[in-house]
Amino acid sequence: MRITKISLLMISLLISFFIGASTQYSSAMVKKSYQYGNIIMQNNASENGSGTVVFRHWTHRGKYTCRLCHVDLEFAQVAGESEITEDDNQSGRYCGTCHNGKGAFSIKLCTSCHAKDTAQLKQTLKKDKKAFYTFQKTMPRAMYGNKIDWMQAEQEGLIKPKDKLPGISLAQKNFVTNQRNEPLEPKLSGLPGIIFSHSKHVAWNGCGMCHPEPFKLENGATDISMQQIIDGNLCGRCHGTVAFQVNDCALCHSEPVSL
Ligand code: HEC
Ligand code: HEC
Ligand code: HEC
Ligand code: HEC
Ligand code: HEC
Ligand code: HEC
Repeated sequence: MRITKISLLMISLLISFFIGASTQYSSAMVKKSYQYGNIIMQNNASENGSGTVVFRHWTHRGKYTCRLCHVDLEFAQVAGESEITEDDNQSGRYCGTCHNGKGAFSIKLCTSCHAKDTAQLKQTLKKDKKAFYTFQKTMPRAMYGNKIDWMQAEQEGLIKPKDKLPGISLAQKNFVTNQRNEPLEPKLSGLPGIIFSHSKHVAWNGCGMCHPEPFKLENGATDISMQQIIDGNLCGRCHGTVAFQVNDCALCHSEPVSL
């Protein structure tokens, strides 16, 4: 896990190249840590903002694994794609699975999720900002994204994400495990190589968040490039939206370089 000075120099040169190449990348860079991973849901909101729902990953991801929501509960991994209806929620799907007045506030408390108008939405966002920074102080810190080192927090037992809900998730013993590391060599010599750790990802993501889409179940069969990642595909589906950001080059490009 050591990076030579020369490769850091090269990486910073490349950063400026990629910032130029992608506007999405630069907008991801300016997101504040309390906004990172927030999904503003407005599929059915009216023009004055009424109906808007803010879903916050930071309040949920310490309690549940990504897999639980994105595989078992079938939330889409792309904002706006789940097509959640009031009916779904009331019959105990999507948000309504947990928001039933037992583990979490009831789905009947409409205004706990739906803003009345833009003014109220702004007020809520301000209140969350305070709550976020209070929470952030209790967590190990990172450079980008929420500026929280979520993996460290999990390792230290500060958070214990649940991976199943009774009656919904398959029994744990039915899960396949995969402890393998997959080395990925960038198509540019001199750049630090990447080790993709299955064991570290599986703790959060199970298998179904990555296989068979977007990654084929055969090494080298998926054409991975940095541009696709910056555009929000492949690794960039999570790294840049919810998991640590693409800015953190050295977290992925971590192999020592032989020049
Ligand atoms: C409590 C449920 C829940 C948990 C836990 C959760 N998510 Fe999500 N996630 C959602 C919802 C809801 C959305 C928004 C879906 C929509 O708009 O249709 C979402 C959206 C996303 C998106 C799309 C973001 C975008 O900007 O397009 C990604 C990627 C994602 N989640 C990854 C993750 C990862 C990685 C984790 C674990 C670290 C995680 N999620 C944990 C519920 C959850
Ligand atoms: C897997 C269970 C689970 C799912 C699914 C889930 N939540 Fe939650 N949510 C919780 C728990 C637990 C809390 C914390 C207890 C509480 O506030 O009642 C919480 C808290 C919240 C809060 C208050 C904290 C904050 O983020 O401001 C909001 C708002 C919220 N959820 C919205 C949603 C929305 C919207 C969805 C669906 C898109 C959703 N939740 C899906 C379990 C869940
Ligand atoms: C736990 C959070 C939560 C609570 C509480 C909640 N909703 Fe929703 N609701 C959502 C989400 C998320 C969506 C989907 C938003 C989107 O896709 O943009 C939604 C969508 C809707 C829609 C539009 C879709 C449709 O079916 O027409 C209506 C109407 C609605 N909710 C009404 C209500 C009412 C009425 C209540 C109270 C009885 C309520 N909601 C409580 C999260 C919640
Ligand atoms: C966060 C994403 C992610 C998760 C979660 C994940 N994988 Fe993978 N998997 C990958 C990547 C990336 C590769 C390498 C792809 C390449 O080289 O083209 C890979 C490769 C593989 C391969 C091919 C190995 C070979 O020798 O060809 C298998 C088999 C595999 N994964 C099984 C699993 C299983 C089983 C799980 C769940 C226990 C899992 N994966 C979870 C991303 C993931
Ligand atoms: C389905 C979502 C998802 C995808 C796709 C994904 N990751 Fe991750 N990754 C995560 C989450 C969640 C973490 C935990 C840390 C965090 O949230 O920032 C993580 C952590 C990591 C770490 C830190 C692990 C360590 O060893 O310290 C590396 C490196 C990494 N990912 C590289 C990759 C690469 C390379 C790809 C694509 C081949 C990829 N990831 C695809 C969700 C994802
Ligand atoms: C989430 C993990 C991740 C992060 C963060 C990351 N990379 Fe990459 N990078 C990859 C993967 C995976 C590849 C493709 C490896 C392959 O070719 O199979 C790659 C490939 C590359 C390549 C080779 C050319 C190409 O397009 O494939 C360059 C150059 C590069 N990355 C630069 C950067 C720079 C600069 C940063 C920081 C701004 C960065 N990377 C951050 C995972 C990452």
